[in-house]
Amino acid sequence: MKSITIIGTGYVGLVTGTCFADLGNRVTCLDIDEEKVARLRRGDLPIFEPGLEELVERNVAAGRLSFTASYAEAVPDADFCFIAVPTPSGPEGEADLGYVRAAASALAPHLKDGAIIVNKSTVPIGTADRVDHIVERQLPAERKGISFGVVSNPEFLREGAAVADFMKPDRVVLGAVRRSDAEQVAELYASLKCPVLITDPRTAEMIKYASNAFLATKISFINEVASICERLGADVRLVAEGMGRDARIGRAFLDAGLGWGGSCFPKDVKALTHMAAMSGCHPQLLRTVIEINKDQRLKVIQKLQDALGTLDGQTVALLGLAFKPNTDDLREAPALDIAHLLLSEGVQLRAYDPVAMEGARRVLPDVTFASDAYDCVAGADAAVVITDWNEFKQLDLGRVRRSMARPVLVDGRNIYEPAVARAAGFLYYPIGRGSSEPVK
Ligand SMILES: NC(=O)c1ccc[n+]([C@@H]2O[C@H](COP(=O)([O-])OP(=O)(O)OC[C@H]3O[C@@H](n4cnc5c(N)ncnc54)[C@H](O)[C@@H]3O)[C@@H](O)[C@H]2O)c1
Repeated sequence: MKSITIIGTGYVGLVTGTCFADLGNRVTCLDIDEEKVARLRRGDLPIFEPGLEELVERNVAAGRLSFTASYAEAVPDADFCFIAVPTPSGPEGEADLGYVRAAASALAPHLKDGAIIVNKSTVPIGTADRVDHIVERQLPAERKGISFGVVSNPEFLREGAAVADFMKPDRVVLGAVRRSDAEQVAELYASLKCPVLITDPRTAEMIKYASNAFLATKISFINEVASICERLGADVRLVAEGMGRDARIGRAFLDAGLGWGGSCFPKDVKALTHMAAMSGCHPQLLRTVIEINKDQRLKVIQKLQDALGTLDGQTVALLGLAFKPNTDDLREAPALDIAHLLLSEGVQLRAYDPVAMEGARRVLPDVTFASDAYDCVAGADAAVVITDWNEFKQLDLGRVRRSMARPVLVDGRNIYEPAVARAAGFLYYPIGRGSSEPVK
């Protein structure tokens, strides 16, 4: 049993800490947000993540998992201190390292001899060195000379499937100056029996950015193909199917839609672009990937204008708000961009999401929130599918159509069969499905 402290108890920190506790370690999750810590101590999870609540309960009950807001309490006994704090975008698109610096400075005075600091936050290339310097500088005089390691261990979990992703990772990446430090961290993952790649710290940091940038590129690529399909009369869903069967390409991340969002892709692609530009490269592909993504939000507005004419005074129902299903995360969600664009056109907005409405009320004060999908679309001039929650796939389209003022359905996630939606009486606007009638 190892003693682990997780600094930052958000989506990554809480999942990582809870899962390490479940693997038999003694874990303290630390957060500077005292209200969050108080909620966690009451067993009230501040985030929605499938399967996490039971896991937290079980490990707290077993005495392996606890929560604190105190570095003095959490760090002195820790063999490993994982840093899982935010790295948001700064004004020029750079990753803001303020939270990481603050965490490194705060843990240093309490660090025990031989401890390993693990960077789990997504951090710019060179951050492991910076953390090493910060900690070295902040060690109190009487503890100068203690030995500690810094290992870069980027996280690849997906919100909505985070627990499963932690327990069954495709790979664990560990970047370290001393191989033995990486091997100690690898031991923590040993029971998961997954591939472990040990690299230097800069390469590990780059693997995370390159992975996210590649996935975002795949989505922007298929969205550009979708626009071409729409013009030339091809069906992007079948194009993706046909491409995806090629083992060199793969089907994942080839769903045309409203573009990528969430807490990672937008800031990580921007940060990599910024790092590239600052180091004298010309990141033209990455810039275009961002540009295509921005345009994708506008597709909804254009389709609504095609269907309704002027948008001023029309009522539009947004089905889904979270940036993807199975999460309540609204950070950089397409819904927010689309809502702001529609509100600026004078649209009356109604919205419904199965789990993201609490957060949405805070950021979208001018939107009316509905109690379910049917309530959301009642009386609306158009409905727009924003998030592909399963419950929207099961809607009775006839009932939806009958309750709306006008029969306009923009399917931003291609969740319906065009023939079915049209048979229900809708003017149906999917993304990139130019020849969307079945072959006779
Ligand atoms: N969310 C994801 O799906 C995901 C996936 C992979 C990697 N990441 C990366 O992991 C990092 C964390 O992301 P997240 O989504 O978990 O963030 P989050 O905002 O959900 O949680 C971060 C937590 O850190 C706390 N915090 C901030 N400064 C602190 C400090 N000095 N000491 C202690 N706690 C502090 C905050 O109060 C917050 O609770 C980011 O770098 C992100 O890019 C996120």
